[in-house]
Amino acid sequence: MEKKNLGVLASGRGSNLQSIMDACAAGRIPARVAVVISDNNDAYALERARRAGIAAVAVNIDDYTDKAEYERYIVKVLMEHGVHLVCLAGYMRLVGTTMLDAFAGRVMNIHPALLPAFPGLHGQEQAWRYGVKYSGCTVHFVDDGMDTGPIILQAVVPVYDDDTADTLAARILEQEHRIYPEAINLYCTDKLVIEGRIVRIGA
Ligand code: GRF
Repeated sequence: MEKKNLGVLASGRGSNLQSIMDACAAGRIPARVAVVISDNNDAYALERARRAGIAAVAVNIDDYTDKAEYERYIVKVLMEHGVHLVCLAGYMRLVGTTMLDAFAGRVMNIHPALLPAFPGLHGQEQAWRYGVKYSGCTVHFVDDGMDTGPIILQAVVPVYDDDTADTLAARILEQEHRIYPEAINLYCTDKLVIEGRIVRIGA
């Protein structure tokens, strides 16, 4: 199977990016990370990319007249690298129509809660404060809402009485690093079929 090119968008430390790069390097996904783009020049994700010899591009939204122009530049970079699938990995912005139109059905995200519960920022802490007994993470396709797109994979973790938001987040993160590469692999091996809101996983 021909390898697919992934474009990863990350705003911060990039541990999910690392799990994706590691899975590609180990041959667990028939893909390569072709480019990493960050809206934050100081993101450690960019450093991880450079160390792995992967193109790392910082884009400052303040350098553009509006979000559409900013995203047109990102789309250009993604296309220059022949990207098939865009993976959001801790990218702290809502994706706009410019990028969604250019990569329709080809943008994925990982969210640190069991959607549709606790969308938006700090999903782990929201769940912990709410007092749920189980939480987890969700990989989903991205639509124009906030963490609302069709769900691909989820993983569940227990919440213990002595948890803090941080210990819960760490337990969830372990599962993120497992299911995000798995979901990307399903996409890259043509196993995912989107029927409306439902994502079917084929044989
Ligand atoms: C993760 O918890 C992810 O679910 C959320 O942002 C965090 C990014 O962490 N969207 P990292 O940059 O991948 O380490």
